[in-house]
Amino acid sequence: MANIDFSKRDSFGSKFGVIAAAAGSAIGLGNIWRFPYVAGENGGAAFLLVYLFFILVIGLPVMLSEFTIGRRARLNPFGAFKKLSPGKPWYLVGFMGVVAAFVILAFYGTVAGWTLEYIANALTNSFEGKSATQLETMFSDFKDSTFRPIMWQLIFMVLTAFIVLAGVKNGIEKYTKILMPILLVLIIVLCIRSVTLPGASKGLEFLFNPDFSKLNANSILEALGQAFFSLSIGMGTLITYGSYIPKSNNLSNTALQVSLADTLIAILAGIAIFPAVFAFDIAPGSGPGLVYITLPNIFQQMPGGSIFAVMFFLLLTVAALTSSISVLEVVVAYFSEELKIKRKSATWLATGLITAIGVLCTMSWGVLKDVSFTFSATETDMATGGEKMYIFDILDFAASNVFLPLGGLFIVLFVGWAMHRKNVHNEISNAGKFRTILLPIFMFIVKIIAPIAIALVFLNGIGLLNF
Ligand code: TRP
Repeated sequence: MANIDFSKRDSFGSKFGVIAAAAGSAIGLGNIWRFPYVAGENGGAAFLLVYLFFILVIGLPVMLSEFTIGRRARLNPFGAFKKLSPGKPWYLVGFMGVVAAFVILAFYGTVAGWTLEYIANALTNSFEGKSATQLETMFSDFKDSTFRPIMWQLIFMVLTAFIVLAGVKNGIEKYTKILMPILLVLIIVLCIRSVTLPGASKGLEFLFNPDFSKLNANSILEALGQAFFSLSIGMGTLITYGSYIPKSNNLSNTALQVSLADTLIAILAGIAIFPAVFAFDIAPGSGPGLVYITLPNIFQQMPGGSIFAVMFFLLLTVAALTSSISVLEVVVAYFSEELKIKRKSATWLATGLITAIGVLCTMSWGVLKDVSFTFSATETDMATGGEKMYIFDILDFAASNVFLPLGGLFIVLFVGWAMHRKNVHNEISNAGKFRTILLPIFMFIVKIIAPIAIALVFLNGIGLLNF
């Protein structure tokens, strides 16, 4: 994170600063927690291929569109739509982004809280000598309990609020530049340990040898949702960040580099997780707890594993923080710039409201376990009585598979059809400085390809259309 002082309309200082901030938002629990769990539930390799296809054909153009809107308007998403298309209802897209931010941060705080618990577990050497089954029980007992998960969630949310308030200029941005490369190294070490476990090859096969019969309409929508979630697109986060990007920056390159970095981390997380999943006989479709059940098994099998575990979960928390601040900022910018609430009050108000919803997510499997409904996407689901969805799962699903794709749809439509073509060209070519041969392709994608693709995947996935 470089040089974002959210309180003034500042610019990122350097080229690296822009990429570091946007990558800091993109890389987080989405890559390391969500990607393996969703890929595991949707059959692995075939899901991965669809996911990669969506990143390239839809994700990248949506990201570039958000940067374009943000840098053109130099405002929060809500204000940006108003300014670029006055008198038209496009600002509702900005409003939907604020709602999405509420939903995402509510359950993001739950999972970030799990990460904090696992730092504590690693510090007290609690994984040592436990079998895979015991580690599984350890996670589910913790997740089903009330006090500790909520406590950690509150701590995480307060940390997020403090960072948003302090501005990141002199603080974490300095550290993340060092810490995130270390996280990358730790993940690579985990990959090496995981693929050298006995029985690991089955996991690699699961991740890289596609079986397209495992895909259904819902898993294709899940792949799209995961692409949006992981890239931080579809709700205006990157419109907000785009508004801080200097005029000299090459937006297309930035979007490409951020997407590449994000995708690399997700794939590495997959390589770290799935071989171990099969080696320790864990079900790949274990759901949101997958990473927390699997990783302790790997740490146990490495020399110095407990120190390693502490470092890993600590850095994962930092990665989660650089993402959560980018979500909270969308709400704070809206409260302060549009509703004219003072920035400090806006931050605490937003944090308080989001945390209140978040606590309900955290209690999903405990106190509120009776609030659930059963969801059947496939024939096997129907045969087995379906998959139970709790409050947490419902918000997780709604955010990634409904709000973000819809937001993304309107964002590309806006850039393709509502913004002045000259303005779009100016932003992407930096007023003609770059001869971007890809510009016509980009325009064709945002006008036609991406809107149709998103709409089809969405309608098909929720069952309104049937192919
Ligand atoms: N992409 C982040 C992650 O992978 C989460 C996130 C941050 C996000 N900002 C977002 C997701 C905006 C959707 C929209 O952890």
